[in-house]
Amino acid sequence: MSGERLDHLGIAVASIEESLGLYRALGLDLAGIETVPNQGVRVAMVPAGGARIELLEPLGPDSPVARHLERRGPGLHHVCLEVSDIRAIMERLRREGFQLLAEEPQPGADGSLVCFIHPKSAGGVLIELSQPAAGGAAEDDD
Ligand code: CO
Repeated sequence: MSGERLDHLGIAVASIEESLGLYRALGLDLAGIETVPNQGVRVAMVPAGGARIELLEPLGPDSPVARHLERRGPGLHHVCLEVSDIRAIMERLRREGFQLLAEEPQPGADGSLVCFIHPKSAGGVLIELSQPAAGGAAEDDD
């Protein structure tokens, strides 16, 4: 069972604080801000109708989001689908010839495990797959 629901839309922004004004004006509330060092970003989650809007602010010039802002300016960065077994999905995608950006799942926001499908394999869209943390506890590989 996987790929069940849209989890969030990732939007690249220069400043989370400056970007929040719009979402607040739309009646949406900030759920929290988190730093995800291995992805080079600060992340603000704004729940919206069962899914979320994820505002991504680069931590520094080497962040992939900083490069996105340089090349394309602020805007839609990725679409994230929630999956229940990320390793099984990655294996299936590889077997079917889709290109992933990493061999292994990476730590994401909220203790999730994530991987990205290369836009070349996904019609020009960067797709993130996210397996939520199990019961909020840290999960070890077996
Ligand atoms: Co994301």
